[in-house]
Amino acid sequence: MSGGTVVRGEISVPGDKSISHRAVMFAAIATGVSRVRGFLHAADTLSTAGMMRALGGRIEEVSPTELRIEGRGLRALAEPDDVIDAGNSGTTIRIGSGILAAQPFLSVITGDRYLRRRPMGRVIDPLTRMGASIGGRDGNRLPPLCIRGGALRGIRYEMPVASAQVKSSLLLAGLYADAPVTVVEPMRSRDHTERMLAAMGARIARDGNAVTVAPCGSLDPLEMTVPGDLSSAAFFLVLAAVTPGSSLTVRGVGVNPFRTGILDVLRRMGADIRRVGERVEGGEPVADLVVRGGRLAAAHVAPEEVPGLIDEIPVLCVAAAFAAGRTEVRGAGELRVKESDRIASMVARLSSLGIPCGEYPDGLWVEGPAPVRPAGPCDSGGDHRVAMSLRILGAASGVPVEVTDEDCIDTSFPGFRPLLEGLTR
Ligand code: S3P
Repeated sequence: MSGGTVVRGEISVPGDKSISHRAVMFAAIATGVSRVRGFLHAADTLSTAGMMRALGGRIEEVSPTELRIEGRGLRALAEPDDVIDAGNSGTTIRIGSGILAAQPFLSVITGDRYLRRRPMGRVIDPLTRMGASIGGRDGNRLPPLCIRGGALRGIRYEMPVASAQVKSSLLLAGLYADAPVTVVEPMRSRDHTERMLAAMGARIARDGNAVTVAPCGSLDPLEMTVPGDLSSAAFFLVLAAVTPGSSLTVRGVGVNPFRTGILDVLRRMGADIRRVGERVEGGEPVADLVVRGGRLAAAHVAPEEVPGLIDEIPVLCVAAAFAAGRTEVRGAGELRVKESDRIASMVARLSSLGIPCGEYPDGLWVEGPAPVRPAGPCDSGGDHRVAMSLRILGAASGVPVEVTDEDCIDTSFPGFRPLLEGLTR
């Protein structure tokens, strides 16, 4: 069904969002001056920079993508004199709560109307068990959060859901605790926090699905280049993979093994994607990704694969619309509590565009190849990854898809639209 433009050439994508958040947070509590290059200059990561500035961190923009950060040390943050605004960013509020829970002062943190609907019990419960005093709206489940930090106890915590944000929040709180903190994940999630804290001198030990951090006196400063974001690259990888004749290279993309599920699934669907020039940068594996377009076949995504491609499922739905057969994703109930309910949102949008698809409580199915039927405006629901996925569907099918409420794209990928227009012109 692909009547879309063939895409050719080489592109790069902005810095990894997860790593950029962590870099600015961790550097601000390190002792000494950090330099971060390749920083993602986008609304979400700027929310994190705003939070650390509100706590007294000195963060200087040498350029939009290069930060010089004077760390305050672990124990010299200042009480913020106003409510902290995490904007749309779950990573800011959840990981940030781990730092705030350990400070001897009061912090109040909130976010936009989407973030204020997202579950926070997952960090409030374990941080409370460590001794912090945290309250939230709706019976301590929703933001704003009111955190009165203080002395924390070490714990062993078995997480009910695989979440790198929750794991990271507890590991950061653990730096301040009176005894080690062990977090046990039901499935492995992205390990950027573990890699970065270890590089900064923290004692981190892994044993299967358990990770333990020891209490720490100080963190060394960071000197790092953030790799390109695979979650951003995924939009263009899918666009090229589903348009026969396309040949695209995305340079310098992070290929952390707990993030590369989208590459495995696209390859299973028959996509020709190769990694070239694998190297290590900033403690993370990086590669150029070379993709050639062709015909795809449907695939099944099993629950244990979900943490490795959680943010890529919206754009995987687009690939599925071009693939022969029924693609199914199960064990992805977490998608319902992302920036929007991405299961309901993608199924509603794809259905309105004539693509056969449906919901499961914990996932979805899409049947392809299906022609895109011109429809009225498709609203993003304020969700950046939904907005970009719909744009990719339009470009790959050649049927214009009008996306409304698109400004949310700036939360993770400000240059997305010009990049797409440049490639498809
Ligand atoms: C992130 C972890 C994931 C992911 C989010 C970024 C992180 O969320 O969806 O976009 O930076 O740790 P969960 O921890 O809720 O799975």
